[in-house]
Amino acid sequence: EAIGQAMDIAQKEIGAEFSGIGAVLPDWVPTPGRARIKRATAVIDAEVARVVSQHRDGETERPDLLSRLLAARDETGAALSDQEIRDETVTLYIGGHETTSSTLVWAWYLLSRNPRVREALTEELDRVLADHEPGYDDYASLTYTQAVIKETLRLYPTIWLLTGLAKEGATLRGMPVPAGTRVWSSQWATHRDPRWYGDAKAFRPERWIDQDGEPAQEIPEYAWFPFGGGPRVCLGTRFALVEAVLVLAVLARRYHLDLTADEILPVPSLTLQPDRDVLATVHARK
Ligand code: HEM
Repeated sequence: EAIGQAMDIAQKEIGAEFSGIGAVLPDWVPTPGRARIKRATAVIDAEVARVVSQHRDGETERPDLLSRLLAARDETGAALSDQEIRDETVTLYIGGHETTSSTLVWAWYLLSRNPRVREALTEELDRVLADHEPGYDDYASLTYTQAVIKETLRLYPTIWLLTGLAKEGATLRGMPVPAGTRVWSSQWATHRDPRWYGDAKAFRPERWIDQDGEPAQEIPEYAWFPFGGGPRVCLGTRFALVEAVLVLAVLARRYHLDLTADEILPVPSLTLQPDRDVLATVHARK
């Protein structure tokens, strides 16, 4: 619970750094928001340190990622330092904490507003899964469910803005960009651009489904980039897609969720958050 609360505070305040006064203030200027980030980080660090020391009991057979990080050796036989273990663990925690769960919230929201899509989804789940619970082996067959998640990530990309520093010799549409310039690109803006998507605001999973071996619509590379791209592309891409598709399949196979709010607005924090608690009436399917 402590780490969950600290994560929420850190996410909110880091989000505010993007859009609030923090975006223009130099890093060394103390602000109340930055003090809250520091306090939250201290809680996360203490908790991670506690779990790491628990794992240092010599038992390497635990089937978890932290045990693998602790057991990992490089070509010289050296292990990761405590700082490296902490950094890797916190990065994975932040990367996996809210991204997939927010994607699922937006998926339920879109499904609740689009009965036609919901019907097509349950038709596929009933047909492909018949009477078994979905598992990894079903992933490839759940093409419509995959398209629902892909289309959700297009309309509500949980990471909606990316930044990086230009390298030597970088250009943008032929224009030179000096090395070290901070460059921003927004999934939100690109994913809703009518140049790349017909009926861009509509929730149409069909646009992702191949017809006769051809994609339903020609979409240029990087017109869809919820996981970023290049050398720093999301390390959890495949994991997140499989996780989101299977969790949606497990639940949508059994339940319809009718959201109580008519319209939920996205708030651009570190991730794209709903502007209120998302409440739903749960109906069991026959
Ligand atoms: C729908 C779910 C997810 C979305 C939309 C997402 C998106 C992203 C994005 C946009 C980046 C930054 C890429 C960049 O800086 O250019 C990133 C990085 C990263 N993500 Fe994810 N992510 C998701 C789920 C996950 C999960 C489940 C994990 C771990 C289990 C994860 C682990 C990471 C890590 C470790 C990085 C840093 C990679 C690096 O800097 O080398 N992500 N993710």
